[in-house]
Amino acid sequence: MAWLLAAWLGLGVSLLAQQPGAPLTFDALHKQVSVRFGQTNVVVHFSVTNTSPAPVVIRDVTLSCGCSVASLPAQPWNLPPGAQGQLTITTDLRGKRGSLVKTAIVQASTGTRVLTYQVDIQEPATPEERARNQTLAKADRQAVFRGDCTRCHVEPAKGKLGRELFTAACGICHAAEHRASMVPDLRTLRPPPNRANWERWITHGKPDTLMPAFAGKAGGPLTEDQVRSLVELLAGTSPGP
Ligand code: HEC
Ligand code: HEC
Repeated sequence: MAWLLAAWLGLGVSLLAQQPGAPLTFDALHKQVSVRFGQTNVVVHFSVTNTSPAPVVIRDVTLSCGCSVASLPAQPWNLPPGAQGQLTITTDLRGKRGSLVKTAIVQASTGTRVLTYQVDIQEPATPEERARNQTLAKADRQAVFRGDCTRCHVEPAKGKLGRELFTAACGICHAAEHRASMVPDLRTLRPPPNRANWERWITHGKPDTLMPAFAGKAGGPLTEDQVRSLVELLAGTSPGP
């Protein structure tokens, strides 16, 4: 009898994790992100909504590795009916390669939910690939936003804003550990660009160089909101690149 009850409870718990009527609804139970080799950490967000008529408390989030840190708006985090918020997980990638799959167990007053995320770390380019990429970019500086180049130069920037966007879209060239000699360090530009200059560089790039035009209206991959968030970051009061 006891085993039956245990089996039934066990089944109940695993069904709850899949059930559309569960008290907590996540934007996804599994996420996948791509990062480039050399990026020191990655941030994954899960959005959660209390879709039940009663309050739910998220007490803790247990992570599958010591390399990750979860951050909640509060701890314990009280979600009244209908409340929505974000759970943010930062994973240290130093010394990591290939694809990693990580688990986060959300401990709520209504039970546990298991979230998973996969981080695909792009392999660094070989010197030959890099030379070929530079040749393609010399012929057309917008080439970096097309074909296979998008894997590293466009995909990681999708949906991002501010500092995260800077790391994905600009840092890939400007903060590279082995930055090419023609790529300037943006922290030491003289004179430091003002707001209008940042906007112009990001929007139109620099003709006849490898610096591409990023704004959608100039044939680049970024939305107006994304361009604005970079200008805020670079020209604003927040610390620069
Ligand atoms: C596997 C990821 C990846 C792909 C694919 C990729 N790049 Fe890059 N790219 C990088 C990284 C990382 C850097 C920074 C320098 C470095 O570490 O190699 C970079 C830098 C550059 C630079 C700055 C000059 C330099 O060598 O640092 C240019 C120009 C460039 N890429 C163009 C391209 C073009 C054009 C393509 C497609 C034909 C492309 N890249 C595809 C990852 C990639
Ligand atoms: C594909 C590599 C690449 C990417 C990605 C890239 N840049 Fe550049 N950027 C360059 C290169 C190369 C130059 C130097 C152009 C030259 O030869 O004068 C440059 C120049 C610049 C300059 C002008 C410096 C000066 O005074 O001449 C600014 C500002 C700048 N980039 C900002 C950005 C920002 C912001 C981003 C992200 C939205 C970004 N770059 C993304 C390659 C890149």
